[in-house]
Amino acid sequence: MSHWQELEQQYFMRTVVRLPVTLVRGSGARVWDEDGREYLDFVAGWGVNSLGHCHPAVAEAVTEQVHTLIQTSNQFFTIPQVQLAELLVQNSCLDKVFFCNSGAEANEGAVKLARRYGKHYRNGAYEVITAVDSFHGRTLGMVAATGQKKFQEPYVPLPSGFVNVEYNSIESIKTATTAQTCAVMLEPVQGEGGVNLPGDNYLVEVRVWCDQMGILLILDEIQTGIGRMGTLFAYEQYGVEPDIMTLAKGLASGMPIGALLAKDGASVFTPGEHGSTFGGNPVTCAAGYATLKFVIDNDIAGNARRAGEYLIAGLENLRHKYEVVTEVRGRGLLTVMEFSEDTAQATVTACLERGLLVNRVKPNALRFMPPLTIGNQEVDEALGILDEALSSIAD
Ligand SMILES: Cc1ncc(COP(=O)(O)O)c(C=O)c1O
Repeated sequence: MSHWQELEQQYFMRTVVRLPVTLVRGSGARVWDEDGREYLDFVAGWGVNSLGHCHPAVAEAVTEQVHTLIQTSNQFFTIPQVQLAELLVQNSCLDKVFFCNSGAEANEGAVKLARRYGKHYRNGAYEVITAVDSFHGRTLGMVAATGQKKFQEPYVPLPSGFVNVEYNSIESIKTATTAQTCAVMLEPVQGEGGVNLPGDNYLVEVRVWCDQMGILLILDEIQTGIGRMGTLFAYEQYGVEPDIMTLAKGLASGMPIGALLAKDGASVFTPGEHGSTFGGNPVTCAAGYATLKFVIDNDIAGNARRAGEYLIAGLENLRHKYEVVTEVRGRGLLTVMEFSEDTAQATVTACLERGLLVNRVKPNALRFMPPLTIGNQEVDEALGILDEALSSIAD
């Protein structure tokens, strides 16, 4: 254990089991540890470094902004947040934006907005229907929204107002809808739940049901948004438009940001009803603007789609080679490889030893979410290492 790792053991709360690597530098799709070892990064800050590590466009925007204006109160107008809001609205189906600092905070804002909507238009309806195996964040409210017992049980009793129903079942949403329901909140593709894709018509059916019942559809695009799925937003691929959408992760390519977007009809906050000290911070918004502009101007979503198809084809080859691999699925650069046994952790370790960072999303599944700028050569390199790792485990 290195000096820094020993200090971490001494000073940190045990909320995470870290891999035995201290990262000190990153560039593009690569990172280096304190001993100078290089790794190809298919975790990318947990689906965050959309343009890779320290992309010049982002680094320059941040550098310029920290020398200009770092933070003001939201009582005042500032330029980077307006620029980013305009770019988001011009490139999505939503009309209004609120900035915050993380995904969980964006989702909290979405639920508060839906409750305000319920008060205005649905006789005080406040309940939000969410899906089993979803993930919406770590605040108490979002733990209640997240349909996974392992995140909920340590903290019961949880805030009320959330109903977790079976994913991919329109019938279970219909059954759960009552006079108290103000919204349905879903990830277009469940990321943390194991890259679970929606059935062909699921999201369209949910949209139709929400319209019929006069309730809101909230899409949590925190993991799927900003090009990761091969389009700027995942909803574009499923023929639906949300009333409310949340973003975070890839929006600023590594700087901490969250965003809550709404259509005009759902944008019902009035002054003082919601807020955030750091939300809309000039530096993070400058990073967000630089990221989004680069993603749009350079068709980074198109690259994610092509590189994703190439990656899936390579993973399929490995599925044919190794009996333990049962399924490969995903879209764009959000991809999973599933095993018949709980060998994901051993595979992560074997990859790490060979210079590749991958994520164990479930005991029996590996997730790949590299930077969206990745090329086929890097995909080939990752596949080669994964092949060796799988072969070492099979031995
Ligand atoms: C779909 C989704 N929603 C919300 C979150 C929570 O985001 P954060 O960790 O920034 O609070 C995550 C994080 O993984 C996520 O994948």
